[in-house]
Amino acid sequence: MMRVAVLLSFCAAAAAQVPKTWDEKALKDWATPLAGLGVRPGHYAEAEYYKAPVDNLRTYPVYYPGREPDGYWEMLARVGPKPLIERDKIKSEADWVAAGKRVFEELDIIMFRSYDPKLIATAQSREYYEKAKVRPRPDGTVPGLRWVPTDKGVALSLDNCAGCHTRRLEDGSILRGAPGNESIGPLVGALAIAGASPIPLPGDSPGMMLWRGSTVPWIKDDLHESIRTMTPEDLRELGRGAFATGIFPRWNGSPFHPNKIPDLIGIKDRKYIDHTATQRHRGPGDIMRYAALVSYADVSDFGSHRILTDAQRRIYGRSLDEGLYALTMYLYSLEPPPNPNKFDTKAGAGQKMFRQAGCAGCHTPPLYTNNKLTLATGFTPPKEHFKFLDIMPMSVGTDPQLALQTRKGTGYYKVPSLKGLWYRSRLLHDGSLTRLEELFNPDRLGDDFVPSGFIGFKLKARAIRGHEFGLKLAPEEREQLIAFLRTL
Ligand code: HEC
Ligand code: HEC
Repeated sequence: MMRVAVLLSFCAAAAAQVPKTWDEKALKDWATPLAGLGVRPGHYAEAEYYKAPVDNLRTYPVYYPGREPDGYWEMLARVGPKPLIERDKIKSEADWVAAGKRVFEELDIIMFRSYDPKLIATAQSREYYEKAKVRPRPDGTVPGLRWVPTDKGVALSLDNCAGCHTRRLEDGSILRGAPGNESIGPLVGALAIAGASPIPLPGDSPGMMLWRGSTVPWIKDDLHESIRTMTPEDLRELGRGAFATGIFPRWNGSPFHPNKIPDLIGIKDRKYIDHTATQRHRGPGDIMRYAALVSYADVSDFGSHRILTDAQRRIYGRSLDEGLYALTMYLYSLEPPPNPNKFDTKAGAGQKMFRQAGCAGCHTPPLYTNNKLTLATGFTPPKEHFKFLDIMPMSVGTDPQLALQTRKGTGYYKVPSLKGLWYRSRLLHDGSLTRLEELFNPDRLGDDFVPSGFIGFKLKARAIRGHEFGLKLAPEEREQLIAFLRTL
């Protein structure tokens, strides 16, 4: 009996060919070498990765006080730890997608689970949500927070993927995979301490954590060194600008040059991961690897430079390979919602503009990206890169700092897909703009321009340079182009 069950689960896995998440061979040439350093980031050894304890727990939504279904608290108190992914139940491709939806919605950041009665009481307090202006979703749940029954009791935790990659549309509906736009309030900070770190950083103050997430030791006069000696007020201001809705300075990124949260709908067809193409996307294994990397498995070694202290170099817990595979299958299955913008004569005229203005050379239909890399201004790619990267050796001239001055700095910006522009808001890699009207407004090239999105530390205005395509259009043509873009 036992042997049959083992055999069956082996067959389901084999049939779906679950790749190994931490596969030395696949990791070896996965990342793009860093521009200022000429080498690829290092990674934990396969044996080290698989030594980490498996964490495979279901989590449950936090409800706005008073909106819980009948008996919810009793259920939570009674249910105990339950497995998030149940391999034996997965038989078909549809089962993988369904299991992956659960992983996407329920995966929490295991290192930030808290049993602190004060924080738990806050998550149950109407006063907190009113003061923090957190709006419940139509089903009564609140974004960002999860209850996790473990063998130590019920912990309060933070959403992982769903926390940043779930969007609430204007009609109130929830769009999974789209760039996040909901506020969770200060509980995030209380649970995560310094938001940019995916793991606890023993020994670091919040300021030091922010520094560790962004310091670039091989760059002369690295701006991030200033974080070490910043006043608390300046640190708060830096954080306010960089941790705004829709943008996030990921680990290895920078609070001075944050990046927008991208849309995961359509990820299946993209050849590169991240705005700066930090990694290649060769198949499901690479998305599994990326999920593990950003959640708990970034050793943060760059050539001879080590970012983490010995005490901080640790994988605290890992997901099952099957869980990450299911998550990937779910992400691959995501479809955009029906587009309310009809393709009318105005949009038709805009489509002509799109072709005439040369947009399609880079934003090539049907994906509206040619899946190639452009150069950040000032970067000359080494010859050998042309052998393994799909490079258009030209620059669109946008702010080069994320691509050159951070640990995500590959020297490249990928050509983004224009699909789903109608429900997204942040534009360009740094989310400096939030409206298409702004992107095609030539005033943005002036130093006195006040962008509606990310401006920059201590700046009140900033020129948003580069990507000058379409800036010379007459006002009517511009409207047509934008009408077309909103139909994609
Ligand atoms: C704290 C916010 C946050 C969380 C949590 C988060 N992401 Fe992201 N994600 C981002 C940001 C910001 C980027 C863009 C990073 C960049 O361009 O360098 C990104 C990029 C990505 C990309 C690349 C998309 C593309 O088109 O290049 C994928 C895939 C992705 N995330 C998947 C996940 C998965 C899977 C999880 C859960 C394991 C997750 N993310 C958790 C914020 C988040
Ligand atoms: C030479 C290649 C190229 C051409 C031509 C081009 N783009 Fe782009 N486009 C890019 C790149 C690269 C980016 C990302 C730049 C960045 O984030 O710094 C981008 C970004 C965008 C964005 C923002 C998307 C997002 O998710 O942030 C829009 C919208 C856009 N382009 C529309 C157009 C239109 C419309 C045209 C024609 C008028 C056009 N582009 C011509 C390469 C190109």
